[in-house]
Formats: sequence, structure tokens, C-alpha cells
Amino acid sequence: MSRRLHPAVVGAQPFQLTARKTFDGPIFETEEGKRRLEMALSRYPTKQAALLPMLGFVQAEKGWIEPGDMEQVAEALDLTPAYVHSIATFYTMYNKHPVGRHFVQVCTNISCHLNRGEEVLERFLAETKTRQGEISDDDEFTVIEAECLGACGFATVVQVNNRYLENVTPDCVPEIVAKLRGARDGAGADGEAEA
Ligand code: FES
Repeated sequence: MSRRLHPAVVGAQPFQLTARKTFDGPIFETEEGKRRLEMALSRYPTKQAALLPMLGFVQAEKGWIEPGDMEQVAEALDLTPAYVHSIATFYTMYNKHPVGRHFVQVCTNISCHLNRGEEVLERFLAETKTRQGEISDDDEFTVIEAECLGACGFATVVQVNNRYLENVTPDCVPEIVAKLRGARDGAGADGEAEA
């Protein structure tokens, strides 16, 4: 019997691509960097207001934001590196360390806790053969425990990169991991999986 796996599992985001960008040169001297900076600046009344979108751009391109990137963002927006660092470290959505191609966050807060969130987390760690925060040997996965993801009515909730999986049970996990592992650069995006 086949059943439809949530399509969120398989769609490719820039940071899910096998070949991530690394910004060999200055970020905002690349074509894309210039374009994204210009676009952001045209949308906000001050340069400072473009900070979150620019941090988001860097993360989307390379998967995480390192101190050198923060300095470049600061320079582009006429901010101090310390200010950019304070914002980047305030928001947990910005990765300050490299992560696997699939960054899996499992909620274990109250609703998810009551719906076996810890078991889901343990199953993800077992299936990916990692400990929390580690990158798996194949570079595919990093799994962490997350605080409430704001979708408590659909516990247990798991965030994979920018997308949510809802009503996840421990038994779903092997199929999700297999599907993610097989989702290469958008391949298999029909969301079908064999149960
Ligand atoms: Fe898990 Fe809120 S408790 S999403």
C-alpha cells in the first residue's frame, strides 16, 4: 500500500543542494550578492532594516553564517560587526555552525512531549547515526531538539530546513530519513513514498 508522504520532505531549497556556495570572494561583489542587497535596500527605509534578509540570504546560500560573513554584512549595511553578531546570535534560526544538508529540528515542548516528541527525536538520531548537533558521516543530516515550533495542534512537529512536518510519530521517521536521503537537488519531488 502506498501513501503520500508530506511534500515538504522532498522539495529542494538552495541550502539543500549538494554543491553549496561558499563565497570564495566578497559576498556582495558576486552578481547574486549585489542583486539581493539592492533588492533588500529598495524595500526598507534604512539599511539596518535589511539586516535579517541579508543574514537569511547568506544562510540560504551556504547553510550557515560564520563570523567573516557577519563582518561582510555589517560593512554592506554600515553596521558594526558586533551589532550584526548580536542579532545573528539572538535568533536561533541562524546557524552559527555548519549543519548537514537536512537540518532537522524536533520539537519536544509540551504538546509534542505528550505526543512522543522525545521518541521521535531519539529515532531521528538513531536513523542518522548522529548525536545532537553533529553532522552525519555522509553530510546529509544534523538533528537537534527544538523548543516549541508554534504548530502545537499538529504534534509532534519536526522542522526540516525551512519546512514543517506535522503529526510525526517514531514509526514515520525511517521513511522520512530515507526520503530525505534520496532527495537530491529536487529529485523525487512528487512526494510519493511506499509505505
Ligand atoms: Fe511542539 Fe508547540 S509544543 S510545536
